[in-house]
Amino acid sequence: MDLKSLIRDIPDFPKPGILFRDITTLLRDPEGLRYTIDLFTEKCIESGLQADYVVGMESRGFIFGPPLAYKLGAGFIPVRKRGKLPAAVHSIEYELEYGTDCLEMHQDALHSNSRVLIVDDLIATGGTANATAKLVEKFGCELVGFGFIIELRDLQGRKHLPDVPIISLMEY
Ligand code: PRP
Ligand code: HPA
Repeated sequence: MDLKSLIRDIPDFPKPGILFRDITTLLRDPEGLRYTIDLFTEKCIESGLQADYVVGMESRGFIFGPPLAYKLGAGFIPVRKRGKLPAAVHSIEYELEYGTDCLEMHQDALHSNSRVLIVDDLIATGGTANATAKLVEKFGCELVGFGFIIELRDLQGRKHLPDVPIISLMEY
């Protein structure tokens, strides 16, 4: 299946000069959605990404993380933006183009012997995924790899990630 044909390109969103890769058109397509999750699962298994937990980032990591976790027989752990999680958290601040942002995970979400796969819809600069990896490191557990539906190659996000397998289903 040609997955790229299900991604809609929106020029000048959210700012002039950005060509936004819109996944909502893929999500609404029943066969496309099923194929995406099945392919994502196969690629993880092929790459030996065996995990106890899939960790997914707010917001769009929450769309692809849970079905992948279900297929891999893993649990799902949400990484949320500041102030959203109710119990005690570990936090990580990271740089944005202008200013900083903060991601949080519950302190009791992972243990030192957990194997973790980090999942998001898209990697651009790698800032979000790298911050999540640093957050996961705070638990002293094993990061087995990263999975993305889309990789924006020109931005070289994977250069900023730790040296573990990184899979993506589509590259632009
Ligand atoms: C987007 C995307 C990734 C991140 C990738 O999320 O879903 O999480 O940006 O960019 P990076 O590699 O440069 O960090 P966004 O921050 O727009 O949040 P949203 O999912 O809530 O829309
Ligand atoms: N599409 C969707 N999300 C994004 C993009 C994009 O092109 N760049 C950064 N986040």
